[in-house]
Amino acid sequence: MAAVDILLGLQWGDEGKGKIVDFLAPKYDVVARFQGGPNAGHTLEFDGHKHVLHQIPSGIFHEGILNVIGNGVVLDPITFKKEIEELAPFNLDLKRHLVISNKAQMIIPTHRMLDKAYEIAKGDKKIGSTLRGIGPTYQDKAARKGLRIGDVNEPDFDDRYKQLRDFHLEILARYDFEADLEEEERLFFEAVEMIREFDILSTEYLINQALVEGKSVLAEGAQGSLLDVDFGSYPYVTSSNTIAAGACTGLGVAPNKIGEVYGIFKAYCTRVGSGPFPTELHDASGEELRKIGNEFGATTGRPRRCGWLDLPALRYTVMLNGVTQLFMMKADVLEDIDEIKIAHSYLKNNELTDELPLYLDNGEFSLSFDSFKGWGGTKATEFDQLPEGLHSYIKYIESKVSAPINLVSLGPDRTQTIMKGDIVAQ
Ligand code: GDP
Ligand code: IMO
Ligand code: MG
Repeated sequence: MAAVDILLGLQWGDEGKGKIVDFLAPKYDVVARFQGGPNAGHTLEFDGHKHVLHQIPSGIFHEGILNVIGNGVVLDPITFKKEIEELAPFNLDLKRHLVISNKAQMIIPTHRMLDKAYEIAKGDKKIGSTLRGIGPTYQDKAARKGLRIGDVNEPDFDDRYKQLRDFHLEILARYDFEADLEEEERLFFEAVEMIREFDILSTEYLINQALVEGKSVLAEGAQGSLLDVDFGSYPYVTSSNTIAAGACTGLGVAPNKIGEVYGIFKAYCTRVGSGPFPTELHDASGEELRKIGNEFGATTGRPRRCGWLDLPALRYTVMLNGVTQLFMMKADVLEDIDEIKIAHSYLKNNELTDELPLYLDNGEFSLSFDSFKGWGGTKATEFDQLPEGLHSYIKYIESKVSAPINLVSLGPDRTQTIMKGDIVAQ
């Protein structure tokens, strides 16, 4: 029986997941998002076009692939409708190629308002949320108050919506907060009407049946492992399990159905929003990485904080996810940097330690770095043709992390991708 392969980010998000899901999609029958929601911004570039997807899986541009929004996702009907409308010029026959889990939780307008109110109230402890309503929606899911996408076809949907909205309004009344709910509700009900036109299914059956029929499934992660609600830099995290285990609960597949786990990381590191970032650069080199790497958020446009690759953190996330193959992104950004650094160890009281502390910014740790020199540009199209300097960089990382680097990305376009052999086990 076929397996579910998982592709996920190993850092603080924006590793380039969208690009690689789009690149690998032709090798799969099904592409399924398993967590997160419109906080994600997944960029795909091909044929001179750039697309940013937030909730729609990144397999959508390929003919013959079924894209699934899984039960672990929190879906905002309003942003979903916008995304669908933006895709209209591409004639993708979305109603045939996209299905939604009836158990995916629904983001309603007051969830977004609560997200904002909570962030404002946190003051300088704010998480730097994307303000898309993610936290409050997962909160309601756990509190067993949430609405699910399948509820749009229940006769009492409007009443249940009002009940949840009124509960939110009572909370919002405690905050100094005003918003135009009337307009938001108009957009919301229009969008709900559009969602009703899609297939809303128990997608856990669909995915498991696909496996029985020998079809291949790629699970697309959002965010990154260091933003995982259990293992990330809590409380500066998102509200879902972004690690591989999240694909099991977020799609309804058993752990023994998981095949490859592709772990994506940038050749350096970025973070958007607040929270600790041990290898962050506060000087001109950070600025240089941001400029060359065009490091601005795909969802919010915020500048991303930049720093060097953090190997203890990478070892941690490779362990948490059971990564079988590593994919290194944005190697081109480093090619002309005079001195590239990699943090290979954390030191506590001058002793090496490989265990990440409970709080990454507790002040008890220092980092040890090795240095590399940029390898210059390359026109290589095969792994073996990559410049010697880049090979050394790859080999060094492989020697410190227990998984092979089987894909290197050298630019945002679909074609700027180099694989070591055929990485997808069929
Ligand atoms: P995701 O959230 O993991 O899908 O990543 P984002 O789309 O938020 O951010 C990745 C950014 O890097 C996007 O602007 C991509 O177009 C771009 N990108 C992806 N891979 C590469 C690469 O290898 N080199 C360069 N220079 N840019 C890349
Ligand atoms: P993709 O899928 C980068 C960050 C936010 C904030 C924290 C919590 O594109 O990699 P939330 O809105 O989830 O409550 O925000 O998580 N964050 C991301 N950072 N990429 C993402 O998604 C992110 N999704 C959330 O900046 O620090
Ligand atoms: Mg992104």
